[in-house]
Amino acid sequence: MSKYLTFLICSLLLISCISEKEKQQLADKEPLMYEPSEMALLMRQMYEYNNLVKTQIVKKDSLLVFPDEFLGIHTAVLTDPSERDVEFDSLAKLFIEQQKATFSSQADSAQYHFNNSVNTCIECHKTRCVGPLPKIKKLLIK
Ligand code: HEC
Repeated sequence: MSKYLTFLICSLLLISCISEKEKQQLADKEPLMYEPSEMALLMRQMYEYNNLVKTQIVKKDSLLVFPDEFLGIHTAVLTDPSERDVEFDSLAKLFIEQQKATFSSQADSAQYHFNNSVNTCIECHKTRCVGPLPKIKKLLIK
C-alpha cells in the first residue's frame, strides 16, 4: 500500500468512534472496507469547523457563519440507527441552538456559547461514541 493511503486511513481512524483495539484489528484486516456513515462524515466536519472557530474566538477574530449543513444532525444516517433515540434528538436540538448562539454572538459571549455547545458534544458522546471524547474535550476554551 502506498504511504499516502496508509496516512489517509490512519488519520481517518484517529478520530473515529472505535476503540484502539478495534482500530488495530481493522487496520490489520481490510482498512479500505471501513466506510464511514453519513453522520460520521458530518461529525468530522463539525469537529474541523469547531476547531477553526475555537482559534477564531481565542484570537478574537471575526467568526465564520453557522453552517446549515449542521442541521443534518437531525436526519443523517447513523452507523447504528438505534443510537437515534429521544435523548439523542433532544441533545441534537440543544447543540444546534448553542451553535447558532455561538455564531451570532459578540466576542465575549461567543466563548460562553461555544463552550456550552462543546459540552453538549461531550454529553452526547459519553454514552454513544466514546472514541473521540479526548479530542472533543480539547476543543473547550479554558
Ligand atoms: C446528539 C449527539 C451528538 C452530538 C451533539 C455530537 N455528536 Fe459526534 N457523534 C455522535 C454519534 C452517535 C456518532 C457516531 C456516528 C456514526 O458512526 O454514524 C458521532 C461521531 C463523532 C465522531 C467520529 C466520526 C467518525 O469518523 O467515525 C467525531 C469526531 C465526533 N462525533 C465529534 C463531535 C463533535 C466535535 C461534536 C460537537 C461539535 C459532536 N460530535 C456532537 C453523537 C453526537
